[in-house]
Amino acid sequence: MSIKIEKAESMKQKPESKEIPFGQVFTDHMFVMDYEEGKGWYDPRVIPYAPITLDPAAMIFHYGQTVFEGMKAYRTKDGETLMFRPDKNMERLNKSNRRMSIPEIDEERVLEYVKQLVEVDKEWVPEFEGTSLYIRPFIISTEANLAVAPSQSYKLMIILSPVGPYFAGGMKPVRIKVEDEFTRAVKGGTGAAKTAGNYSAAYRAQANAKKEGHADVLWLDGVEKRYIEEVGSMNIFFKIDGKVITPALSGSILEGVTRMSVLELLKDWDIPVEERKISIAELYQYYEEGKLEEAFGAGTAAVISPVGRLDWLGNTMTINGEEVGPLAKRLYDEITGIQLGVREDTKGWSVKI
Ligand code: COI
Repeated sequence: MSIKIEKAESMKQKPESKEIPFGQVFTDHMFVMDYEEGKGWYDPRVIPYAPITLDPAAMIFHYGQTVFEGMKAYRTKDGETLMFRPDKNMERLNKSNRRMSIPEIDEERVLEYVKQLVEVDKEWVPEFEGTSLYIRPFIISTEANLAVAPSQSYKLMIILSPVGPYFAGGMKPVRIKVEDEFTRAVKGGTGAAKTAGNYSAAYRAQANAKKEGHADVLWLDGVEKRYIEEVGSMNIFFKIDGKVITPALSGSILEGVTRMSVLELLKDWDIPVEERKISIAELYQYYEEGKLEEAFGAGTAAVISPVGRLDWLGNTMTINGEEVGPLAKRLYDEITGIQLGVREDTKGWSVKI
Protein backbone atom coordinates (compact mmCIF):
# COMPACT_ATOMS: atom_id res chain seq x y z
CA MET A 1 0.00 0.00 0.00
CA SER A 2 1.89 3.06 -1.15
CA ILE A 3 0.74 6.57 -0.45
CA LYS A 4 1.50 10.02 -1.79
CA ILE A 5 4.83 11.29 -0.49
CA GLU A 6 5.89 14.91 -0.94
CA LYS A 7 9.49 15.33 0.17
CA ALA A 8 10.69 18.32 2.19
CA GLU A 9 13.09 20.66 0.39
CA SER A 10 15.45 21.55 3.17
CA MET A 11 16.31 19.08 5.86
CA LYS A 12 16.44 20.26 9.45
CA GLN A 13 19.34 19.82 11.84
CA LYS A 14 19.20 16.50 13.73
CA PRO A 15 20.12 16.19 17.42
CA GLU A 16 23.81 15.45 17.90
CA SER A 17 23.81 13.99 21.40
CA LYS A 18 21.54 12.06 23.75
CA GLU A 19 20.52 15.26 25.55
CA ILE A 20 17.32 15.67 23.56
CA PRO A 21 14.53 17.41 25.46
CA PHE A 22 11.32 15.40 25.32
CA GLY A 23 8.96 16.43 22.53
CA GLN A 24 10.60 19.64 21.34
CA VAL A 25 12.36 18.58 18.15
CA PHE A 26 10.36 17.43 15.12
CA THR A 27 11.40 15.65 11.95
CA ASP A 28 11.16 16.79 8.31
CA HIS A 29 7.84 15.15 7.45
CA MET A 30 4.39 14.43 8.83
CA PHE A 31 1.43 12.28 7.85
CA VAL A 32 -2.05 13.66 7.24
CA MET A 33 -5.36 11.98 6.33
CA ASP A 34 -8.81 13.55 6.29
CA TYR A 35 -12.29 12.35 7.17
CA GLU A 36 -15.67 13.55 6.08
CA GLU A 37 -18.99 12.10 7.08
CA GLY A 38 -20.31 9.98 4.20
CA LYS A 39 -16.88 9.76 2.59
CA GLY A 40 -14.85 8.15 5.34
CA TRP A 41 -11.09 8.50 5.79
CA TYR A 42 -9.40 9.68 2.59
CA ASP A 43 -6.25 11.15 1.04
CA PRO A 44 -3.49 9.64 3.18
CA ARG A 45 -0.27 11.52 2.50
CA VAL A 46 3.21 12.26 3.79
CA ILE A 47 4.10 15.94 3.41
CA PRO A 48 6.80 18.29 4.72
CA TYR A 49 6.38 19.09 8.42
CA ALA A 50 4.64 22.46 8.62
CA PRO A 51 1.97 24.41 10.50
CA ILE A 52 -1.63 23.70 9.48
CA THR A 53 -4.55 26.07 8.95
CA LEU A 54 -7.87 25.53 10.69
CA ASP A 55 -11.09 27.51 10.88
CA PRO A 56 -11.32 29.31 14.25
CA ALA A 57 -14.68 27.59 14.69
CA ALA A 58 -13.08 24.13 14.25
CA MET A 59 -14.62 21.98 16.95
CA ILE A 60 -11.27 20.89 18.38
CA PHE A 61 -10.78 24.43 19.71
CA HIS A 62 -14.09 24.54 21.52
CA TYR A 63 -15.01 21.14 22.89
CA GLY A 64 -11.72 19.28 22.68
CA GLN A 65 -12.91 16.33 20.61
CA THR A 66 -9.53 14.74 20.04
CA VAL A 67 -7.46 11.62 20.77
CA PHE A 68 -3.79 10.74 20.53
CA GLU A 69 -1.29 7.92 20.87
CA GLY A 70 2.33 7.63 21.91
CA MET A 71 4.65 5.02 20.44
CA LYS A 72 8.36 4.77 19.65
CA ALA A 73 10.79 3.56 16.98
CA TYR A 74 14.27 2.41 17.97
CA ARG A 75 17.57 2.11 16.12
CA THR A 76 19.29 -1.25 16.61
CA LYS A 77 23.06 -1.61 16.60
CA ASP A 78 22.73 -3.22 13.15
CA GLY A 79 21.03 -0.08 11.86
CA GLU A 80 17.54 -1.57 11.73
CA THR A 81 14.47 0.34 12.85
CA LEU A 82 12.13 -1.43 15.28
CA MET A 83 8.80 -0.57 16.83
CA PHE A 84 7.40 -2.02 20.05
CA ARG A 85 3.93 -3.63 19.97
CA PRO A 86 2.49 -0.92 17.68
CA ASP A 87 -0.69 -2.96 17.09
CA LYS A 88 -1.60 -2.33 20.74
CA ASN A 89 -1.42 1.43 20.18
CA MET A 90 -3.66 1.17 17.13
CA GLU A 91 -6.14 -0.88 19.14
CA ARG A 92 -6.12 1.70 21.91
CA LEU A 93 -6.50 4.57 19.43
CA ASN A 94 -9.80 3.03 18.36
CA LYS A 95 -10.86 2.53 21.99
CA SER A 96 -10.22 6.23 22.55
CA ASN A 97 -12.08 7.04 19.30
CA ARG A 98 -15.13 5.14 20.47
CA ARG A 99 -15.16 6.96 23.81
CA MET A 100 -14.75 10.36 22.15
CA SER A 101 -17.30 9.76 19.33
CA ILE A 102 -14.58 9.96 16.69
CA PRO A 103 -14.85 7.66 13.65
CA GLU A 104 -12.75 4.54 13.96
CA ILE A 105 -9.66 4.02 11.87
CA ASP A 106 -8.51 0.90 10.03
CA GLU A 107 -5.85 -0.20 12.52
CA GLU A 108 -3.72 -2.17 10.05
CA ARG A 109 -3.79 0.59 7.46
CA VAL A 110 -2.85 3.33 9.89
CA LEU A 111 -0.02 1.18 11.22
CA GLU A 112 1.22 0.91 7.64
CA TYR A 113 1.08 4.72 7.38
CA VAL A 114 3.05 5.03 10.61
CA LYS A 115 5.69 2.72 9.18
CA GLN A 116 5.84 4.62 5.89
CA LEU A 117 6.30 7.94 7.65
CA VAL A 118 9.04 6.51 9.88
CA GLU A 119 10.67 5.02 6.78
CA VAL A 120 10.73 8.48 5.13
CA ASP A 121 12.30 10.03 8.25
CA LYS A 122 14.32 7.00 9.36
CA GLU A 123 17.52 9.07 9.52
CA TRP A 124 15.86 10.81 12.46
CA VAL A 125 15.72 7.70 14.66
CA PRO A 126 18.49 8.65 17.11
CA GLU A 127 21.14 6.11 17.95
CA PHE A 128 22.38 7.46 21.29
CA GLU A 129 21.81 5.45 24.45
CA GLY A 130 18.37 6.05 25.96
CA THR A 131 16.98 7.81 22.88
CA SER A 132 14.29 6.88 20.39
CA LEU A 133 11.92 8.39 17.85
CA TYR A 134 8.66 9.22 19.59
CA ILE A 135 5.66 8.80 17.30
CA ARG A 136 2.59 10.88 18.02
CA PRO A 137 -0.53 9.97 16.00
CA PHE A 138 -3.51 12.18 16.82
CA ILE A 139 -6.96 13.00 15.51
CA ILE A 140 -8.63 16.40 15.73
CA SER A 141 -12.19 17.46 14.95
CA THR A 142 -12.13 20.06 12.18
CA GLU A 143 -15.74 20.98 11.37
CA ALA A 144 -16.44 24.71 11.75
CA ASN A 145 -19.47 24.51 14.00
CA LEU A 146 -20.17 25.58 17.57
CA ALA A 147 -22.91 22.99 18.09
CA VAL A 148 -22.19 20.65 20.98
CA ALA A 149 -22.19 17.47 18.88
CA PRO A 150 -19.60 15.24 17.20
CA SER A 151 -17.78 16.86 14.31
CA GLN A 152 -18.57 15.80 10.74
CA SER A 153 -14.92 16.11 9.70
CA TYR A 154 -11.54 15.18 11.19
CA LYS A 155 -7.82 15.12 10.50
CA LEU A 156 -5.57 12.26 11.51
CA MET A 157 -1.98 13.40 11.72
CA ILE A 158 1.24 11.70 12.72
CA ILE A 159 4.30 13.66 13.81
CA LEU A 160 7.69 12.33 14.86
CA SER A 161 10.03 13.61 17.53
CA PRO A 162 13.50 12.30 18.45
CA VAL A 163 13.53 12.08 22.25
CA GLY A 164 15.73 11.41 25.23
CA PRO A 165 14.32 10.37 28.62
CA TYR A 166 10.89 11.73 29.60
CA PHE A 167 12.05 12.74 33.07
CA ALA A 168 15.21 14.85 33.04
CA GLY A 169 18.00 12.79 34.59
CA GLY A 170 17.05 9.54 32.84
CA MET A 171 16.76 6.38 34.95
CA LYS A 172 17.23 8.41 38.17
CA PRO A 173 14.42 7.81 40.70
CA VAL A 174 11.85 10.61 40.73
CA ARG A 175 9.92 12.17 43.58
CA ILE A 176 6.16 12.04 43.21
CA LYS A 177 3.45 13.80 45.18
CA VAL A 178 0.24 11.94 45.99
CA GLU A 179 -2.39 14.40 44.77
CA ASP A 180 -4.86 15.30 47.52
CA GLU A 181 -6.81 18.18 45.99
CA PHE A 182 -7.55 17.63 42.31
CA THR A 183 -8.98 14.61 40.47
CA ARG A 184 -7.79 13.18 37.16
CA ALA A 185 -10.72 11.01 36.17
CA VAL A 186 -13.73 9.11 37.43
CA LYS A 187 -15.27 5.83 36.36
CA GLY A 188 -17.52 6.50 33.37
CA GLY A 189 -15.45 9.55 32.42
CA THR A 190 -12.63 9.70 29.90
CA GLY A 191 -9.72 8.53 32.07
CA ALA A 192 -9.18 5.33 30.08
CA ALA A 193 -9.08 7.24 26.77
CA LYS A 194 -6.00 9.02 25.51
CA THR A 195 -7.62 12.40 25.07
CA ALA A 196 -6.17 15.87 25.55
CA GLY A 197 -8.34 17.05 28.44
CA ASN A 198 -7.09 14.32 30.77
CA TYR A 199 -3.62 15.77 30.44
CA SER A 200 -4.30 19.51 30.54
CA ALA A 201 -6.61 19.07 33.54
CA ALA A 202 -3.57 17.75 35.40
CA TYR A 203 -1.43 20.87 34.92
CA ARG A 204 -2.61 22.69 38.04
CA ALA A 205 -1.78 19.73 40.27
CA GLN A 206 1.54 19.14 38.48
CA ALA A 207 2.53 22.80 38.85
CA ASN A 208 1.88 22.68 42.60
CA ALA A 209 3.86 19.46 42.89
CA LYS A 210 6.78 20.86 40.88
CA LYS A 211 7.05 23.83 43.24
CA GLU A 212 7.79 21.30 45.98
CA GLY A 213 10.41 19.48 43.90
CA HIS A 214 8.21 16.66 42.63
CA ALA A 215 8.47 15.40 39.06
CA ASP A 216 4.76 14.56 38.82
CA VAL A 217 1.69 13.55 40.84
CA LEU A 218 0.16 10.19 41.71
CA TRP A 219 -3.59 10.30 41.20
CA LEU A 220 -6.08 8.76 43.57
CA ASP A 221 -9.59 7.67 42.57
CA GLY A 222 -11.95 10.58 42.04
CA VAL A 223 -14.74 9.38 44.32
CA GLU A 224 -13.21 8.35 47.63
CA LYS A 225 -9.71 9.75 47.07
CA ARG A 226 -8.37 6.57 48.61
CA TYR A 227 -7.35 4.21 45.86
CA ILE A 228 -4.20 4.63 43.80
CA GLU A 229 -4.76 5.07 40.05
CA GLU A 230 -1.84 6.27 37.88
CA VAL A 231 0.67 9.06 37.43
CA GLY A 232 -0.81 10.49 34.23
CA SER A 233 2.39 10.06 32.23
CA MET A 234 2.75 6.43 33.38
CA ASN A 235 1.08 3.51 35.19
CA ILE A 236 2.38 2.67 38.65
CA PHE A 237 3.76 -0.53 40.22
CA PHE A 238 4.83 -1.36 43.78
CA LYS A 239 7.01 -4.21 44.97
CA ILE A 240 5.77 -5.13 48.39
CA ASP A 241 7.17 -8.00 50.42
CA GLY A 242 8.34 -9.89 47.32
CA LYS A 243 5.20 -9.41 45.26
CA VAL A 244 4.20 -6.76 42.76
CA ILE A 245 0.95 -4.84 43.06
CA THR A 246 -0.48 -2.51 40.42
CA PRO A 247 -3.91 -0.86 40.44
CA ALA A 248 -6.47 -2.89 38.47
CA LEU A 249 -7.88 -1.12 35.40
CA SER A 250 -10.85 0.64 36.87
CA GLY A 251 -12.32 2.39 33.86
CA SER A 252 -10.50 5.58 34.79
CA ILE A 253 -6.92 4.34 34.33
CA LEU A 254 -5.15 4.32 30.97
CA GLU A 255 -4.31 0.80 29.79
CA GLY A 256 -0.61 1.25 29.10
CA VAL A 257 1.21 -0.90 26.55
CA THR A 258 4.30 -0.88 28.79
CA ARG A 259 2.03 -1.76 31.74
CA MET A 260 0.73 -4.86 29.96
CA SER A 261 4.27 -5.80 28.91
CA VAL A 262 5.52 -5.51 32.51
CA LEU A 263 2.69 -7.76 33.70
CA GLU A 264 3.53 -10.37 31.06
CA LEU A 265 7.23 -10.31 31.95
CA LEU A 266 6.56 -10.63 35.68
CA LYS A 267 4.38 -13.67 35.02
CA ASP A 268 7.13 -15.21 32.87
CA TRP A 269 9.64 -14.59 35.65
CA ASP A 270 7.36 -16.21 38.26
CA ILE A 271 7.19 -13.03 40.28
CA PRO A 272 3.83 -12.94 42.05
CA VAL A 273 1.72 -10.07 40.77
CA GLU A 274 -1.63 -8.68 41.81
CA GLU A 275 -3.77 -6.31 39.79
CA ARG A 276 -6.14 -4.96 42.37
CA LYS A 277 -7.40 -1.93 44.20
CA ILE A 278 -4.75 -0.61 46.56
CA SER A 279 -5.39 2.36 48.79
CA ILE A 280 -2.74 4.91 49.64
CA ALA A 281 -3.30 4.12 53.33
CA GLU A 282 -2.58 0.42 52.68
CA LEU A 283 0.60 1.39 50.83
CA TYR A 284 1.69 3.63 53.69
CA GLN A 285 1.12 0.81 56.15
CA TYR A 286 3.42 -1.45 54.10
CA TYR A 287 5.94 1.35 54.08
CA GLU A 288 5.82 1.65 57.86
CA GLU A 289 6.24 -2.10 58.19
CA GLY A 290 9.33 -1.88 55.98
CA LYS A 291 7.69 -3.94 53.22
CA LEU A 292 7.62 -1.36 50.43
CA GLU A 293 10.68 -2.48 48.50
CA GLU A 294 10.30 -0.63 45.20
CA ALA A 295 7.99 1.66 43.28
CA PHE A 296 8.22 2.43 39.58
CA GLY A 297 6.18 3.80 36.73
CA ALA A 298 5.79 2.26 33.29
CA GLY A 299 4.85 4.07 30.08
CA THR A 300 5.92 4.56 26.48
CA ALA A 301 7.49 7.93 27.16
CA ALA A 302 8.63 7.09 30.70
CA VAL A 303 9.76 3.48 29.87
CA ILE A 304 10.43 2.23 33.44
CA SER A 305 10.91 5.16 35.81
CA PRO A 306 11.78 4.32 39.41
CA VAL A 307 9.99 6.33 42.10
CA GLY A 308 12.38 7.15 44.93
CA ARG A 309 10.02 9.09 47.12
CA LEU A 310 6.28 9.48 47.57
CA ASP A 311 4.83 12.35 49.58
CA TRP A 312 1.31 11.97 50.87
CA LEU A 313 -0.29 14.57 53.16
CA GLY A 314 2.88 15.28 55.09
CA ASN A 315 3.98 11.64 55.15
CA THR A 316 7.17 10.86 53.27
CA MET A 317 7.86 7.39 51.91
CA THR A 318 11.50 7.07 50.89
CA ILE A 319 11.76 3.98 48.75
CA ASN A 320 14.92 1.86 48.35
CA GLY A 321 17.06 4.75 49.57
CA GLU A 322 16.04 6.68 46.42
CA GLU A 323 18.17 4.30 44.40
CA VAL A 324 17.12 2.33 41.30
CA GLY A 325 15.68 -0.97 42.57
CA PRO A 326 16.72 -4.35 41.14
CA LEU A 327 13.29 -5.15 39.72
CA ALA A 328 12.92 -1.77 38.00
CA LYS A 329 16.42 -2.25 36.57
CA ARG A 330 15.65 -5.79 35.39
CA LEU A 331 12.42 -4.68 33.69
CA TYR A 332 14.11 -1.64 32.14
CA ASP A 333 16.96 -3.78 30.78
CA GLU A 334 14.60 -6.44 29.42
CA ILE A 335 12.12 -4.04 27.80
CA THR A 336 14.73 -1.72 26.30
CA GLY A 337 16.77 -4.79 25.32
CA ILE A 338 13.84 -6.13 23.30
CA GLN A 339 13.10 -2.66 21.90
CA LEU A 340 16.72 -2.27 20.74
CA GLY A 341 16.96 -5.82 19.43
CA VAL A 342 19.75 -6.86 21.84
CA ARG A 343 17.58 -9.29 23.85
CA GLU A 344 15.68 -12.17 22.36
CA ASP A 345 12.12 -11.20 21.45
CA THR A 346 10.37 -14.44 22.36
CA LYS A 347 6.94 -12.84 22.30
CA GLY A 348 7.03 -11.19 18.90
CA TRP A 349 6.74 -7.69 20.37
CA SER A 350 9.22 -6.06 17.99
CA VAL A 351 8.08 -4.99 14.55
CA LYS A 352 10.66 -4.22 11.91
CA ILE A 353 10.10 -1.23 9.64
C1 COI B 1 3.21 8.23 26.41
O1 COI B 1 3.81 7.56 27.26
O2 COI B 1 3.32 8.02 25.21
C2 COI B 1 2.34 9.32 26.80
O3 COI B 1 1.45 9.60 26.08
C3 COI B 1 2.59 10.01 28.09
C4 COI B 1 2.80 11.49 27.98
C5 COI B 1 3.99 11.91 27.20
C6 COI B 1 1.57 12.21 27.57
